[in-house]
Amino acid sequence: MTLAPKPGVLDIAPYVGGRASVPGVEQPIKLSSNEGALGASPTALAAYTHAAADIAIYPEGSAGILRQAIGEAFGLDPARIVCGNGSDELLTLIANAYLRPGDEVLFSAHAFLVYRIATLANSGVPVSVPEKNRRVDVGAMLAHVTPKTRLVYLANPNNPTGTYLLHDEVVRLHAGLSPETLLVIDAAYAEYVRRNDYDTGMALANKHANVVMTRTFSKIYGLAGLRIGWALCPPPVADVLNRIRGPFNVSIPAQQAGAAALRDVDHVARSIEHNEHWRSWLTDAIRAAGLAVDDSVCNFLLIRFPQEPGKTAADADRFLSERGLILRGVASYGLPDCLRLTVGPADANRKVAAALTEFMAKT
Ligand SMILES: Cc1ncc(COP(=O)(O)O)c(C=O)c1O
Repeated sequence: MTLAPKPGVLDIAPYVGGRASVPGVEQPIKLSSNEGALGASPTALAAYTHAAADIAIYPEGSAGILRQAIGEAFGLDPARIVCGNGSDELLTLIANAYLRPGDEVLFSAHAFLVYRIATLANSGVPVSVPEKNRRVDVGAMLAHVTPKTRLVYLANPNNPTGTYLLHDEVVRLHAGLSPETLLVIDAAYAEYVRRNDYDTGMALANKHANVVMTRTFSKIYGLAGLRIGWALCPPPVADVLNRIRGPFNVSIPAQQAGAAALRDVDHVARSIEHNEHWRSWLTDAIRAAGLAVDDSVCNFLLIRFPQEPGKTAADADRFLSERGLILRGVASYGLPDCLRLTVGPADANRKVAAALTEFMAKT
């Protein structure tokens, strides 16, 4: 007899992160994983270094330091917050806790890949719902709800499309779900959104017993390497996640750096300002080069390439890589004609715009 994993596990295509190197290029410019363009706050780095003195000792198990800081920063009850080793861990723990074999899990066609992985790892059935012009279609999502729908993952805004759902649309989605279905609002890019018709999902998660909102320190806070995420949960869901998470799943240096990053509101404001300026600059430059790109509310752009030989997304990826510029191919997200570009530091943005212009102009 061979050792067999749970049904579904071998259907998982392992997650492949954004590339970080190019053979033959010494210092490539990595614009493939949506990390914050300005990096970590200096006070977060100092807190991290300072915490190194304590690494011989286990952390307090509930991530109390960080939960307290999150509670203060956002006006939330720390008892409703569960921290994780990246929000990836929390998205996975939710599936581990609530899915029974055969339960259906809804997400939109170009949603974050971790939702499918977490579903299959728990012998659930992934239900991928078509989008409309690379935007979540609430009507279509609701049309796919069945009595077996146990979880709905909604990335708002969504990666890799960069588009978002209005608060009213999220409310409509939630209103169409039964109390036995959990709506997980993944707001990894919330800090970048500057729209008054958007909500992070915080209000819904505070109000309803079947809504969780997840957040990350990997993007605007510049702490992707530390792996810190958090979830705002109804109390019974927090209780469930706390039973199944690793006992010490967030390290002391990570907690201290995260808490300091939250308090450095100037760094966050500078990061937002940088992103607003360069996202708009890049959007204009890419359109001027003759490429299609949707308006994004995030710190990345989804660029659509022609299918004409020599001008495809794969051709562009090669052309840019040869010049040390690494973007993210998104064929695994069902978008083979696109590349995703993270808004980077000023110099990187100028280089990538110039390279894309050259790529499109060459015969
Ligand atoms: C939509 C979305 N959710 C969650 C994550 C995971 O973030 P973390 O680094 O907190 O695991 C990402 C990272 O790319 C993301 O794009």
